Amino acid sequence: MTDSHSGGSRSHKLWGGRFTGGPAPELEAVNRSIDVDFRLWPFDIQLSKAWAAALAQAGVLTNAEATELQQGLDEVGRRIAGGITLEGSDEDVHTLIDRLLHDVVGGVASRLHTGRSRNDQVATATRLWTKDACARLDARLLALQQALIAQAESLELDVMPAYTHLQRAQPVSGAHWMLSHFWPIARDRRRLAAAADACAVLPLGSGAIAGSAFPVDRSALQVALGFRAVSQNSIDAVGDRDFIAEVLFTLAVLGAHLSRLAEDLILFGSSEFAFVRFGDAYSTGSSMMPQKRNPDALELARGSGARMLGDLVALLGTIKGLPSGYNKDLQEDKRSLFDAVDGMSLLLPAITGSLASLTFNRARMKTAVTSTMMATDLADYLVRKQVTFREAHGAVGKLVREAEEKGVEMTELPFSSFKAASGSFEADALDELSPSTSLAHRNLDGGTGPDAVRRQIAAAKTSLTATG
Ligand code: ARG
Repeated sequence: MTDSHSGGSRSHKLWGGRFTGGPAPELEAVNRSIDVDFRLWPFDIQLSKAWAAALAQAGVLTNAEATELQQGLDEVGRRIAGGITLEGSDEDVHTLIDRLLHDVVGGVASRLHTGRSRNDQVATATRLWTKDACARLDARLLALQQALIAQAESLELDVMPAYTHLQRAQPVSGAHWMLSHFWPIARDRRRLAAAADACAVLPLGSGAIAGSAFPVDRSALQVALGFRAVSQNSIDAVGDRDFIAEVLFTLAVLGAHLSRLAEDLILFGSSEFAFVRFGDAYSTGSSMMPQKRNPDALELARGSGARMLGDLVALLGTIKGLPSGYNKDLQEDKRSLFDAVDGMSLLLPAITGSLASLTFNRARMKTAVTSTMMATDLADYLVRKQVTFREAHGAVGKLVREAEEKGVEMTELPFSSFKAASGSFEADALDELSPSTSLAHRNLDGGTGPDAVRRQIAAAKTSLTATG
């Protein structure tokens, strides 16, 4: 698409008969949405072809006229795909297609815009585009989930600290940590599917506000365009942008999830943690510091979560305060929608690639698991010997303090210290200070025990093929 509109407009408008002069250039400039909505063209052509068929079926057009319009619309599609020059009067994608259709088929083009309005047209085209975008995003999310599973499998037998308050808390399997980022994405995919389903209600036939005055068969339109239902109320249908809000909410939550994953990886890639090394293909260097290996894609994932959130807030802000029916404010919906979808479409493959390119320093991860991280296990040991958890917590607290004061690991304390802390400690208490014993206690569903993690990996794989 090239744009020649600065040289004045050859007038091809869908409105204007009731005005004496043309619009002020300042109005045209602010009103024009072609730069944003141009991408709707394949869907506008698709719905226009279906509309031509519906008008013929309702007896408004002859079959020959409908065929001529449909073939003309196909030719318009080919011309747009081949590259066209915009005119100043190309206010939006609907006006553009109407102009091109006139160029291709002549006067009969004027019959197509019967009984419809850009209000039901833009709502329909945007729903078609959004449904398609949801499918494209879902494929990218699936690829990310597959990369998460592959890395989880490689870490199944590796132990690392899990953190609360970003303080070393308890040992977990590396796979358990990795899959903690898998399930949120599974939920995001369910939300995305629900949002795609919300798109699948057909507004076409609603006209500007009161419904088309011609008896078009909306059920036939619904089937032809792949919708699951027709809208029940024309006033609602032309003003309803809930489906966009649902997509934007889904992407805002996904953005937060990706930010959290990115932040974990950025931290773990720092020299202080050094649990992971970013692959060459997903690292950038510094113009000044030759040693740098920067995880830019991950930082951008963290950063652009804010934009997705902004897009959601912008849309909700636009809707709030509008009266019912179509209002031009709604033209802003696509800016937010396209921004969020475009951002996410770029981001997801970069995150997936970054993730797949990671190499883990398993020895570092393991040595980060220190004996005090099993303090809870030691307390649980006493509980199994009928000590109350409160008492056990106190006894183990003493041991932790003693080890800290002496600057040694708890495993290095003499057994006499254990006995002094609680008479219920036996020689086997020291086993509790091993990370593998800690994990082995946790084979309940959702836990980090080896059997539970094996089941979790299997469940993650199954979830990728499960329907519904
Ligand atoms: N470009 C407009 C939009 O995106 C199309 C609908 C225009 N409708 C109208 N009554 N001016 O919302």
